[in-house]
Amino acid sequence: MDGDALCFPADFLWGTATSAHQCEGSLANNDWVAWERTPGSIADGTDSARTCQWWEGRYEEDFDLAQSMGQNALRLSVEWSRIEPDEGQWDHDAIARYRDMLGALHARGLEPMVTLFHFTTPLWLAERGGWENEAVVPYFERFVSKVVEALGDLVNLWCTINEPNVYAVQSYLRGIWPPQKRSVLTMLRVLRNQLLAHGFAYRAIHRLQPMARVGLAQHLRVFDPFGPDSLLDRWAAWFYDWLFNETVLAMPVDGVLRFPLGLNTRVPEAVDSQDFIGLNYYCRDMVRFDITQPGSLFMPRFPMPGAEFSMEGWGEIYPEGLYRLLKRLERYGKPIYVTEIGVPDNDDSKRPRVILTHLAAVHRALSDGVPVKGFYFWSLVDNFEWADGFSARFGLVHLDLETGQRALKRSGQLYREICQAGAITEDMVERYAPEVEEQVFARF
Ligand code: FCB
Repeated sequence: MDGDALCFPADFLWGTATSAHQCEGSLANNDWVAWERTPGSIADGTDSARTCQWWEGRYEEDFDLAQSMGQNALRLSVEWSRIEPDEGQWDHDAIARYRDMLGALHARGLEPMVTLFHFTTPLWLAERGGWENEAVVPYFERFVSKVVEALGDLVNLWCTINEPNVYAVQSYLRGIWPPQKRSVLTMLRVLRNQLLAHGFAYRAIHRLQPMARVGLAQHLRVFDPFGPDSLLDRWAAWFYDWLFNETVLAMPVDGVLRFPLGLNTRVPEAVDSQDFIGLNYYCRDMVRFDITQPGSLFMPRFPMPGAEFSMEGWGEIYPEGLYRLLKRLERYGKPIYVTEIGVPDNDDSKRPRVILTHLAAVHRALSDGVPVKGFYFWSLVDNFEWADGFSARFGLVHLDLETGQRALKRSGQLYREICQAGAITEDMVERYAPEVEEQVFARF
């Protein structure tokens, strides 16, 4: 290769991340479907009925695309409400369909990582209190065991739960996702139940498939004090980090439900319950202490003034944060996968540089010896972005919602070049985002 290049390890996993509800379409039996069809729920009035039409078979086309882009991995989820449409009832056709999808991935040289819970709850479970009810722990364990029995020969990488903290906050504290609760105590209970469910699921998977690699996809944010010299601002940033990041990171390590999740109860199933750490990273929040803002507990969070934003209402683009978090995760001594990074960018003007600068951050961490094993960009094809519907597009491939037609974006072409080369070259940076050249090659 001519000029500077950031080369990645030969066995690095190059993938994209997706989820069932966001890509499959034709869903009927979970809490989101019911909610998203209520007028006013979704920003642009769309719903998940069609989206990428994977359930109708269009996964073939999208997996072809992933393969043609040089990827060798794909993260997807299985939908609980399809596999267990009613309590204890198993849908064997749905399981067979997932076997087809996983077989299609293998046929294309794409190693699957399968998420078992990605924000959507079967209606029968929602009616029993969903994740608020501790009974979810054995329900989830039973579901996971069924899935592993049925699909384990096709899957080696399992991700039990996607972003427990985000789910708890959006659905039970901020109340902007179903079931739209707003209670600190309920949010904490849901977080606790998810971490417990993870521990029991981890053991269940290993009983059935001892060689499986199991982890969580953790959404971590960077919280920085607005005034680095202000003790109060520093305390406020520490507080958010402790509540949002540290609680979910600590529990699968020592299995202890400590305050605010519990009173130091040690749950044996949860001790050392991860074989890898999955990191979903999107942005940084600045935090300051402000006596005039009781509504935000006197600690407002806001994006760094003057920084680059992805889209209105979404966070700061801050690739350095990815490096900092990877360095922080090193202490756990586990392999790390970047299970999501991405950017809402409807005209694809920022995505190329987001890919380059975030991968440069991963490369920097690798050079420091952090064991990063793979990178899954969110997402392959534009898909149903929860309460934002299709108003926030994350794909490397554009989806025409009317015709279902796919078109590779410029960012997709860049990602294809990177995956095929297993490297970022100077020439790629010059062609796609020369403005970040210095940032990308900072270490040369
Ligand atoms: C993450 C979610 C994923 C997607 C991206 C944009 O928090 O895990 O489903 O919505 O954000």
